[in-house]
Amino acid sequence: MGTPKTFAIRTFGCQMNEHDSERLAGLMVADGLVPAEKDSIADVVIFNTCTIRENADLRLYSALGELKDYKKAHPEMQIAVGGCMAQKDRDDILRRANWVDVVFGTHNLTSAPGLLKKALTDGPQIEILDAPDPEAHKDMAPALYAVRELPFAAWVTIQTGCDNTCAYCIVPSVRGVEVSRLVEDIMQEATMLAASGVTEITVLGQNVNSYGRDITGRSPLFSDLLRELGTIDGIERIRFTSPHPKDFRDDTIRAMLETKAVCNQLHLPLQSGSNRVLSSMRRGYTIERYMEKLNAARAAIDDLAITTDIIVGFPGETEAEFEETLAAVAEAHFDAAYTFIFSAREGTRAAEMQSEFIEDEIVAERFDRLKEVLNRSALEKHQARVGNTEEVLVEGPSRRNDQVLSGRTRQGKLVHFPVTNEPVRAGSLVTVKLLKAAPYHLKGELVSVLRAPKHKVRIPLHVS
Ligand code: SAH
Ligand code: SF4
Ligand code: F3S
Repeated sequence: MGTPKTFAIRTFGCQMNEHDSERLAGLMVADGLVPAEKDSIADVVIFNTCTIRENADLRLYSALGELKDYKKAHPEMQIAVGGCMAQKDRDDILRRANWVDVVFGTHNLTSAPGLLKKALTDGPQIEILDAPDPEAHKDMAPALYAVRELPFAAWVTIQTGCDNTCAYCIVPSVRGVEVSRLVEDIMQEATMLAASGVTEITVLGQNVNSYGRDITGRSPLFSDLLRELGTIDGIERIRFTSPHPKDFRDDTIRAMLETKAVCNQLHLPLQSGSNRVLSSMRRGYTIERYMEKLNAARAAIDDLAITTDIIVGFPGETEAEFEETLAAVAEAHFDAAYTFIFSAREGTRAAEMQSEFIEDEIVAERFDRLKEVLNRSALEKHQARVGNTEEVLVEGPSRRNDQVLSGRTRQGKLVHFPVTNEPVRAGSLVTVKLLKAAPYHLKGELVSVLRAPKHKVRIPLHVS
């Protein structure tokens, strides 16, 4: 047998995109390929793209440009482009970068290995479906064979696509309409993950609170699903992303409260603090309703961490409206936030509001002011935890220093602590005393090891 081909996947997008990459890696391994060594150029390079903002597009074309000469010199290597931008740009990708071999859409993940093979003999291949194939959608095998970065933590997709019409957002057009997976399929997947030693799952959907509507028309169902997942032996932590504030209701708060495994963490994307902007964004809630829900969740769930997403510079946003966002952010006292500068996406309603676009300098200045308020509240939230001893699921050595271990608390906060004589492996559950706070992490010291990892350590197979 010859040397197996190597592959590498570069992921540009959100958790959903990252999970697709894990499944794609599983498919490639099942096809006999092996992951390429770091810093080498693989025989098959796959770009799993994102198109949420314009700079995501630019990053792909610059990455493709970097491979152009190499591909010319090594015509046997293959380049594939999948994900949301492939779904949007379709054959344009081949027009702009004719050294690409395969383009596959967001509903065509499982076709990628076959397309790569076909391209070897038949030239460039494009496969893009506009909606998920119902049978492939049910099939959970790719998820079970996923090659995960952390063997003890897994994403579980409960729903694909999105039925909302947020004026700025391209996701519905590249991920299609909402399709929920069946409870039985989700439960089977999560149970098998637990059996393989996974102890933390993050439930994924663009709008998890509308989960199930397309199956039975009965709602609420997301809260039932959370409770069901909470019965699986071995799953100690459950997180979910994202609930849409307009659909986030008391039954979900109750399910969070009453399901022991569900973590005290909530990502509730605000987008703006101005009612006029929220309405122009077509978000379907007011700032008052948002705050009511946030306060209800905080009142019910002890020590709840809340994170959010905010867009700065939506078309027509005035200084006064931006200040309403600042005020809302100060009032909400978020633990962390992802902040984005509005980017016009072709085909969305907001892209047509050109006459109301805000000048770059004004947006940049607002962005900095917002960051300052958010960093202050994140730091305060972290400072308030100093002195606590908290449960941390260890992810492994920190990126910068192998004498420091990193992990996450139940609130999802990143904690670094020095290695001690006590052996602690990735996947272990430990307690850490928190000693020092920064806006994006906490530092502490190991107190005790609660349990060793449950997953099996993989022994790499060498095929000769
Ligand atoms: N379904 C998720 C969001 C997915 S996109 C939800 O509704 O919560 C993640 C975030 O990207 C959004 O919450 C929004 O803050 C940001 N975003 C989406 N489109 C954008 C655009 N055109 N410009 C800037 N930010 C955008
Ligand atoms: Fe985009 Fe809105 Fe759907 Fe989220 S809910 S994916 S922001 S359209
Ligand atoms: Fe995610 Fe980007 Fe697609 S945010 S859904 S990968 S456009």
